[in-house]
Amino acid sequence: LVLLYKSEPERGRIWRALLAEHLPQLEFRTWPDVGQPEDIRYLVAWEPSAELLESLPNLELLFSVGAGIDHMDVARVPDQVGIVRMIDPALTQSMSEYVVMAVLALHRNLLDYIDAQRRGRWAPQGIVAARERRIGIMGLGNLGLAAIDALRQFGFDLAGWSRTPRTIDGVDCFAGSGSLAAFLGRTDILVCLLPLTEKTRGILCRRTFTMLPSGAGVINVGRGGHLVEPDLLSALEDGSVGAAVLDVFEEEPLAAGHPFWSHPRIVITPHRASHTGAMTGGQALLGNLRRHLAGEPMHGLVRRELGY
Ligand SMILES: NC(=O)c1ccc[n+]([C@@H]2O[C@H](COP(=O)([O-])OP(=O)(O)OC[C@H]3O[C@@H](n4cnc5c(N)ncnc54)[C@H](OP(=O)(O)O)[C@@H]3O)[C@@H](O)[C@H]2O)c1
Repeated sequence: LVLLYKSEPERGRIWRALLAEHLPQLEFRTWPDVGQPEDIRYLVAWEPSAELLESLPNLELLFSVGAGIDHMDVARVPDQVGIVRMIDPALTQSMSEYVVMAVLALHRNLLDYIDAQRRGRWAPQGIVAARERRIGIMGLGNLGLAAIDALRQFGFDLAGWSRTPRTIDGVDCFAGSGSLAAFLGRTDILVCLLPLTEKTRGILCRRTFTMLPSGAGVINVGRGGHLVEPDLLSALEDGSVGAAVLDVFEEEPLAAGHPFWSHPRIVITPHRASHTGAMTGGQALLGNLRRHLAGEPMHGLVRRELGY
């Protein structure tokens, strides 16, 4: 039973020790020390090359070290290989913290205060009650649901949008493209926590922004490919969007001189809303390996036909 690891070396050392302790029958190899390629049953990687995949004839499972799989060329992963994404409680927790931070920053006009401070101006803003602030979460999966739970305590007016219908206590739920306009029309602060797929690429575009109430806030913590960057700039220009908090970008790191760097109505963070924890991610992998060996369903098994 052999696992091949090809990712950050430091995390690999921690995962190797954890698996050696709790799953001693598993041999842990670190790329490029592949040994006999036909031994490898499990591959843990961020972006495995087609050459590597083709060289492993007995591969059963590919574990992504991240929560998404959009960075992988899934078409190059042989059909019989299951793809499993990372569901890590520490990653989920830090994403919820980020969403709360960003929602509160927009809700309480933090960008206006930073701007006023820089100009030496004492400029009090009106206070809107949380129950009157309509938050809309795109993506009601692992991360979207956790963010909703974290936002509940403030009493916001919450809504969510997903592909298939959901029922969530205290949350106005919308599903499918037919209900997107209704969802956006009631959303003062929009949070994108969608996976990047053929269907969701470019979803934060001019059309979407014009369906939001004028001056709405936009938070993108999904992927850079969700946002049409020039459309955000023009929506900020004409006031259909009031401010944005962005963690992910089409090109990362963001290029020097990109207009987002200096835009007064945009806050950027360098793709650090959350991150797979070294220990907690290893425990998530261990849990899934145990489930797989026991013939139980794993957490985060990707449905290839949906792309997430
Ligand atoms: N910025 C960061 O640091 C960071 C960190 C981790 C993850 N992420 C991003 O967050 C994403 C979400 O993660 P997750 O674990 O919450 O994913 P997940 O559990 O797979 O949930 C995805 C959600 O999106 C919905 N969805 C998918 N396609 C849709 C469509 N075409 N229309 C409407 N809704 C759609 C799904 O609907 P159903 O419920 O109907 O299936 C589901 O509710 C990841 O894919 C990754 O890109 C970012």
